[in-house]
Amino acid sequence: MTLAYWNGHYMPLDAVKVSPLDRGFVFGDGVYEVVAFYGTEAFELDAHLARLARSLAEIGIALDPIAGGFAEIFRRLRADCGAPDATVYLQVTRGAPGTRGHAFPADATPTVFGFATPLARLQPDALATGFPAVTAPDIRWLRCDIKAISLLPAVLSAQAAKERNALETILHRDGLVTECSSSNVLIVKDGRIATPVADHRILDGIDRQVVVRLARQHGIPVQERNVLLEELRTADEIWITSTTKEVAPVVTLDGAAVGLGKPGPVWREMRAAFDVLIGRPASRG
Ligand code: PDD
Repeated sequence: MTLAYWNGHYMPLDAVKVSPLDRGFVFGDGVYEVVAFYGTEAFELDAHLARLARSLAEIGIALDPIAGGFAEIFRRLRADCGAPDATVYLQVTRGAPGTRGHAFPADATPTVFGFATPLARLQPDALATGFPAVTAPDIRWLRCDIKAISLLPAVLSAQAAKERNALETILHRDGLVTECSSSNVLIVKDGRIATPVADHRILDGIDRQVVVRLARQHGIPVQERNVLLEELRTADEIWITSTTKEVAPVVTLDGAAVGLGKPGPVWREMRAAFDVLIGRPASRG
């Protein structure tokens, strides 16, 4: 049985009953977070709660995840999931009013829903080989800084990647790299890391922030700036970061080799540092 959190109660996931008028169901009107747990340790929980607070504020839902005790919800759902590592999904919608209408309803209280799943980490042998990625135009809205549950473009670009056996679709807009369906992107050229600046065009990923911080600690130059699609195509290394993919090396882009066509030395150094940080040090070739 999977345990769910539903509007103040814990219950079996399949006992949750959603109103057909819930704003999440009819409008995709809500925001969410996904937090990884390594063992019992939440990874960067405060950063996720802060980002959730910001997403909620940006869409005008008056709910404070910190005052609302969301940290405890994440921990309890994780504790109920037996897997060695887990992710907890938590979403907040604008609630279930009495009727449908686009503008904010006066009569709805936010719906809060969460549950945990085992974290299926990318395995060391797959990481040592690296992953294919493909590219596609970014057809999303211009508030990608909000972690919204309305994810149709992300669904389509994730499916496009799956059909081409790729780990991700890397998106671009106006000749610039943005991010991926559900992860961020970093490149390395001549020993320097560059990643798209975190403005309205991308989600400011927590794993992205962690990797930028680790790189600075390691004395590797990092720039958060506009990254040209052309730079992506000529990069020595490309990495993808997210809560579920962690820090993954891309070795082919649209079928062409990235750098030498294998995970690069800067990725190896950063990945080792990341593994230490999450308490899962591993040796890789
Ligand atoms: N996705 N960009 C987008 C569009 C994302 O959806 C995500 C996360 C990221 C990476 O953010 P973080 O490092 O904080 O996980 C970047 C989550 C994992 C998901 O939708 O399941």
